Amino acid sequence: MPVTFNEQKKIFKLDTPNTSYICGIFDKEGFLGHIYYGDRIEEEDVAYLARTGEPPYTPEVNNRDRLAFYDSFPFEYPAHGLGDYRDDCIAVRTSGGNSALKLTYVSHKIIKGKKPLKGLPATFGSEDECTTLEITLTDDILELDVYLSYSVFEDVDAVLRSARIVNKSREDVSLTRVMSACLDMDNENYDLITLHGSWARERHINRRPLNRGTQSVSSIRGESGHQEHPFMAIMEHNADQTGGRVWGINFVYSGNFLAGCYVNQFDTVRAYIGINPEDFCWRLRPGDEFTAPEAVLVYSGEGLGGMSRSFHDLYRNHLIRSPYKDRKRPILINNWEATYFDFDTDKLLAIADEAAKVGIEMLVMDDGWFGYRNSDNSSLGDWYVNENKLKGGLKYLVDEVNKRGLKFGIWFEPEMISPDSELYRAHPDWAIRITGREPGQAREQYVLDLSRPEVVDYTFDQISTVLHSANIEYVKWDMNRPLADIGSAYLPAEQMGELYHRYTLAVYELQERLVTEFPDLLLENCSGGGARFDPGMLYYSPQIWCSDDTDAIERLSIQEGTSLVYPLSAMGAHVSDCPNHALGRVTPFRTRGYVALAGTFGYELDVTRIPQEDRDMIPSQIEMYHRYNDLVRMGDYYRIASYSQNHEYDCYMVVAKDKSEALVTFIQVLNRANCHSRRIRLQGLDPKRRYRLEYVDDAADRSKGEGTDRTYLGETLMKAGILVQNPWGDYQGKLISVKAE
Ligand code: DGJ
Repeated sequence: MPVTFNEQKKIFKLDTPNTSYICGIFDKEGFLGHIYYGDRIEEEDVAYLARTGEPPYTPEVNNRDRLAFYDSFPFEYPAHGLGDYRDDCIAVRTSGGNSALKLTYVSHKIIKGKKPLKGLPATFGSEDECTTLEITLTDDILELDVYLSYSVFEDVDAVLRSARIVNKSREDVSLTRVMSACLDMDNENYDLITLHGSWARERHINRRPLNRGTQSVSSIRGESGHQEHPFMAIMEHNADQTGGRVWGINFVYSGNFLAGCYVNQFDTVRAYIGINPEDFCWRLRPGDEFTAPEAVLVYSGEGLGGMSRSFHDLYRNHLIRSPYKDRKRPILINNWEATYFDFDTDKLLAIADEAAKVGIEMLVMDDGWFGYRNSDNSSLGDWYVNENKLKGGLKYLVDEVNKRGLKFGIWFEPEMISPDSELYRAHPDWAIRITGREPGQAREQYVLDLSRPEVVDYTFDQISTVLHSANIEYVKWDMNRPLADIGSAYLPAEQMGELYHRYTLAVYELQERLVTEFPDLLLENCSGGGARFDPGMLYYSPQIWCSDDTDAIERLSIQEGTSLVYPLSAMGAHVSDCPNHALGRVTPFRTRGYVALAGTFGYELDVTRIPQEDRDMIPSQIEMYHRYNDLVRMGDYYRIASYSQNHEYDCYMVVAKDKSEALVTFIQVLNRANCHSRRIRLQGLDPKRRYRLEYVDDAADRSKGEGTDRTYLGETLMKAGILVQNPWGDYQGKLISVKAE
C-alpha cells in the first residue's frame, strides 16, 4: 500500500518506488507537521525529526511559548498571522479586516486513483496507477476548511500536491495567499537551482548556495514567463548529475507564480510554490471553494539526472494527454523565419514543393494570414483569412499543400487584440485595461479580457470556424506579450484581484474546448518563444516552442535548462537558416540538425533559398530523425557535460528504457589547438552488456578506433569512458550510436 496511516502514532506515510514522504498529526490540537521526504525508508515512526521533544515543545506542554512553537514547527501547510513568521501558505482577508488563521487536523481519507482538479491542468492516473491521501484541516473560528491532497504513483518518484479551500461560514472571506505546497526541512548546506532568462535566452540554469532569508523566483506577467520559471531544486552542495540528494519543485500552472525558499534563524528551510499573492485576492462566498493548482515534488538520491528523469517520466506518462504523446510528430517546416509577414499562396506552395521533395511532412503557416496583417501592428482578433495574400482562400491553400503530400498547420494568437482591428473598434472594453487609463501596448497589442465569458466564446468560435474550414492538423498557439494594466470592465471592484487567475483559467478552458472539439489536432504552445513552457501547457499540448533563438549554440543552454525538468519529446526545436536571425552566428547545418534532434525536430527556413549543400543534407537529417526519434522521445536522458558550465563543449545521451541502445550527442563549441581527445563517460547503460559504437554520419571518425570494429562492456563505457577526437573547426558535433549486442 503506497499510502498508510498509523492510527496509534498518527503518522501518514507515502511511498514511491524509491522515496518516502512522511507527515503526522501533533499535539492535542492536531497540528499537521512535516517529518521526512527523501530516500525510501521502511519505518514510519520517525516523528522525532519534527523536534517536538525540544524546547519550545508543543503548546500542550508549554503554552507560554506558543509563538515560538508556531515559528519553528515544520508545518505541512503553514497559516498566516499567529506567530509563524516564516513565509506561509495561506492568508485571508475577513469582513473584519483580519488576515490570520489556524489550521488543525479534522479527518483524512485514502483513495485509489486521483481526482481531476476542477478547471485546472493536473497529472492523472488510474486506480491501479496511483493513490491519493486527502487530509482535511480547518480553522474553527473562520469555518474555513482546507483539503490537502497528496498523490503518489506506482511507477515514478513524485509526490503531487494541491489544496482546496472551502468557505463553510455564513460570511464572505477573501483569500489573499494560497500556496499549493510547502516543504519544511533542515538546511544542510544546500544549493538552490532556478531557471532564468529573457526572450531568446530562456531557462538558463542558475545555481548558488541557499542563503539565509528569502530567495524566490516569480512572475507577475500573467504567464510563467521568459524571465523566471516555476521551478526550483534544492540540493546538497556536492550534488551533481549522477549523485547527491536533490528536491525538485515544479508548478502545474501557466500564470503568475511564486516559488521561494526561506532559511530561518534555526537554519531550517521552508520551500513553497503557488500562485503569486501579488495582485491576488479571491473572494469566497458562503459555500464557495477555491482550488489551488498542482505542485510537483520530486526527490532524487541520484543527483540532478535522477530528478530530471523522474520529471520526464511523470510528464510523459501522467500529464501529457495528446494522442501525439507517444507518436512521432510530423516533421514540420514553419514559414516564420523563412518569410516573416511577406508571403502569399504562391510562396507557401513553392516552399511546400521543395519541402515535399526532401521528406518534410507538414507545412505550418505562421503569423500574418488573417485580417489585413502585413506586420505585427494590426488585426489580432480578426481571425478570418486575408484573401489578398491567400488567393483562393485557406481551403484552396490547404488542399494544395495536402496534394503535395504534406499536412497543414496554422498559427493563432487567440488571447490578443490589436488596437487596429475590427474587433477592438467594436469592443474596446474587451481589452484588459484600467478604466480611465490608456493601457500600455507591447508589440502594438493589448490582451483580451478573458474573464468575460463572451470573449472566451467569441475567441473559441473564431478558431473553431477556421479549423473546420479546411484540413488543418496542427495549431501553434502563440502569446506575444505579458499582461499589464490589470483591470476589467467586467469584474466588480471587489473581484479585481481575481483577474490574473481568471485569465489563466480561461486560457485553460479555451484549450480544453479546442482539444475536445478537435481530438486529433497536434497543438504546440508558444509564447514569444518559450515564455509559457510549463507543465500547465503540457496538459493541453505535447510540445511547446522552446525559444525564438534557434541558434544551435544558444540552444545548448536553453535545451539543457529546459530538459532539466521537461522531456525532450516536449521541446520544440527546429533547424533554421544562417546567419542566425537572433544572433547573427553561423554554425554548420549538420550541427544545427544534431541539436534539433534533441527536440521535436523541424525546419524554420526557406527551403527554396538555402544553399544547395544544406538542402542536400536534409534527407539524411530526416532519416536520422526517423531512426532515432523513438529513442529520443521515450528514452532516459543523461547529461554528461554542460557547455554552459565548462564553456567548451556539451554532451548528453538518451538511453532506451530496456538499455538496448543509446544515442550520444557531442557538440564542441570552440576547437582547441594541439590538445588530446576528450574523455567522456557514458551513463545509464547495462554494465554487463556489450555495446558497439558507431559515429552516425561522420565517416572520418570510424577509422579512429571507436567505430564498429569492436564492442565494449557497458561498465567500461560508463567507468572508463571513451575518447572523442576533437572535431575540426568550431561549432562541430558528433552523434554516436551505442547498440547492445
Ligand atoms: C513568436 C513566436 O515564437 C514565433 O515563432 C512566431 O510565431 C512569432 N511569434 C509570430 O508573431
